[in-house]
Amino acid sequence: MIVETPSKVILFGEHAVVYGYRAIAMAIDLTSTVEIKRLDNKIVLNLNDLNKSLRLNLDEIKDIEPKNFGDFKYCLCAIKNTLNYLDIEPKIGFEINISSKIPVSCGLGSSASITIGVIKAVSRFYDRELKDDEIAKLGYTVEREVQGKASVTDTSTITYKGILEIKNNKPKKIKGKFEEFLKNCKFLVVYVEDRKKKTAELVNEVAKIEYKDEIFKEIDKIIDKALKVDSKEEFGKLMTKNHELLKRLNISTPKIDRVVDIGSKFGFGAKLTGAGGGGCVIILVDENREKELLKELNKENVKIFRCKMVS
Ligand code: PMV
Repeated sequence: MIVETPSKVILFGEHAVVYGYRAIAMAIDLTSTVEIKRLDNKIVLNLNDLNKSLRLNLDEIKDIEPKNFGDFKYCLCAIKNTLNYLDIEPKIGFEINISSKIPVSCGLGSSASITIGVIKAVSRFYDRELKDDEIAKLGYTVEREVQGKASVTDTSTITYKGILEIKNNKPKKIKGKFEEFLKNCKFLVVYVEDRKKKTAELVNEVAKIEYKDEIFKEIDKIIDKALKVDSKEEFGKLMTKNHELLKRLNISTPKIDRVVDIGSKFGFGAKLTGAGGGGCVIILVDENREKELLKELNKENVKIFRCKMVS
């Protein structure tokens, strides 16, 4: 059995969401894949992209301390929590193969994607299909256990798919016209550069900015407008406007700004997505000028991923 799981971008409201304002997140078709198959007496995990393997006895999994297992930690924690939640004492073993197209540590939710994929694969393997609410909750528990602290943004967006509004760490699905509008949008996620700082560090730096609340209020107004627009041109302009405000929080970099400028000039609009300090830019593509856009981006030595919303 194979489970394909999306990743996510924040369209508006990163950092503001830490202070009780809204953020709008979208699930995208840049995916990870979890394959599960039956294996007698053992649990085997293969991280195909890293060429790493781990073998465990069936009786080891339920008391395992995932944090001690490096790159396997999310996967092990997801297996353990799923088995415990479903009250399953594993008698049959399984092999899990994980592959991912999602760049890591750049705000696209690569670990949440694998976590949710493993939760779904393990529960289905034991014929115990879980509801989305249960999957999202388990995913959040896993991220909290592994990271110490977590936000629901990644695990919820990746579970429920489509568009979500996140406020006070609670997800709300946005349906209707806005979702339909975004379904017809073409995006590029551009991996610009490695992040120089972790999310927590960037959040702490933003906390010291005196005028941050004014900026968050402006971002919230942008979200109000974005939820109502029906033109890609307008939507793109709002993305770029959100980026201008993120710049004032000092979380952008010269290279991110350059890519955002290209995205705004040759596309409908662009902004950094996630905590900043490097990482990724999301561009709303103008199909009529896509060739020029790609040509300009290719001069910047970046990785480009074509994306659409997944619902
Ligand atoms: O870690 P990232 O890049 O997905 O960013 C998270 C967004 C922040 O608002 C900066 C932090 C948060 O917890 O919401």
